[in-house]
Amino acid sequence: MSPLISALHLYDIANVKGIAADLSHCNTPAQVLDFTSPAELGNCLKGVDLVVIPAGIPRKPGMTRDDLFTINANIVKSLVAAVADHAPHAFINIISNPVNSTVPIAAEILKKKGVYDPKKLFGVTTLDVVRANTFVAQKKNLRLIDVDVPVVGGHSGITILPLLSKVRPSVTFTEEEVEELTVRIQNGGTEVVEAKAGGGSATLSMAYAAARFVESSLRALDGDGDVYECAFVQKGVEAVISSDLLGLTEFEAKALEALKPELRASIEKGAKFAQKQE
Ligand code: LMR
Repeated sequence: MSPLISALHLYDIANVKGIAADLSHCNTPAQVLDFTSPAELGNCLKGVDLVVIPAGIPRKPGMTRDDLFTINANIVKSLVAAVADHAPHAFINIISNPVNSTVPIAAEILKKKGVYDPKKLFGVTTLDVVRANTFVAQKKNLRLIDVDVPVVGGHSGITILPLLSKVRPSVTFTEEEVEELTVRIQNGGTEVVEAKAGGGSATLSMAYAAARFVESSLRALDGDGDVYECAFVQKGVEAVISSDLLGLTEFEAKALEALKPELRASIEKGAKFAQKQE
């Protein structure tokens, strides 16, 4: 639906034709093409500006995102290697879990191929912002359209840190509200996994969040200097917006310190995995 998309290339190991035929009937400017099997991956990637990687298996109740590591790490590794070969200058938006490890995997693979640009690799954490905006607006009876909650850290459990002291418009919370909202935002994915009871994890809200992040990425690629999004990155698009991390409340500062060891371990796990590959 975005006017910024001129061509949409869909890739999977199976069942792409039907989805592409279906999407291609929308009266939007995007030309939809399908590519099935690794033999067609190179053609799919040639000349693209932005690659979105949501591939992999989803969680079942009782699983953490890290439990998906073994299978999804291999999928992300192969896809990013192909991006490095065929679309080395593209923005890469990674959705595949565990994002805290798959983004470092992608970074290492791109480094090995000599094409790593930290300004072009993003872990998509927009769903945490989307959830935070929804839950805060509900709790405080605010107009959703006005609400923006910055969320920093990673995309799993306590590594997801909503900065409720920085919510726009300015709003005050009791200590209990901060704790309750933080935990709900951190467990948003698990809430969906449990409600689906074995049927997978969030797909529709994730697609909504990914569409927002893709649109922002395309606006940035189009030269718009006024794009603001939270994401899991090594470096920001133009600069690390560290002012968001200044003036944290005691609760936020403690939570930030508490998340670092887990996030660092997930980053190292991903990096080590990628470094071991040929
Ligand atoms: C989400 O946040 O919904 C996704 O990361 C999927 C999941 O496993 O929770």
